[in-house]
Amino acid sequence: MVCLGNICRSPLAEGILTSMVNPEKTEVSSAGTGGWHVGNQPDPRSIAVAQKNKIDITNQRGKQFSTYDYEVYDHIFVMDSANYRDVLKLANTEAERAKVSMILDEIFPGEAVDVPDPYYGGDNGFDDVYKMLYEACEKIVSRLTL
Ligand code: 4NP
Repeated sequence: MVCLGNICRSPLAEGILTSMVNPEKTEVSSAGTGGWHVGNQPDPRSIAVAQKNKIDITNQRGKQFSTYDYEVYDHIFVMDSANYRDVLKLANTEAERAKVSMILDEIFPGEAVDVPDPYYGGDNGFDDVYKMLYEACEKIVSRLTL
């Protein structure tokens, strides 16, 4: 799960998908394309909306996406089109490029819909993001049988 800062959207996506998969079969992680928040806890507003939905993301720490992630993970879900471009820049092969998709393609295939960045908005933004990510993660789990 990849966003820009790895403190708002992708930590929520990581927490939601983790809550839905068999941990013996599937490893879920998240990262940001930017490095400003490496080592930081998720944004308190993401922690709060997760908590409200019985998901604990307080143990997550910010990471920056790297080429190494292409070797480790089979699927890379990005939150918006800027993330998509930045992540693809780090791909070395066609097989790596094929791992990347916009997460809301799960709900709106081929429409390139962004998960809006709630960082500069109010708390409502986080509830909306949670709902979108929850729906997308349900599709991911059933499509990939995780
Ligand atoms: P995120 O939101 O990409 O959903 O984690 C952001 C968080 C921090 C910044 C940008 C986006 N920032 O510029 O610090």
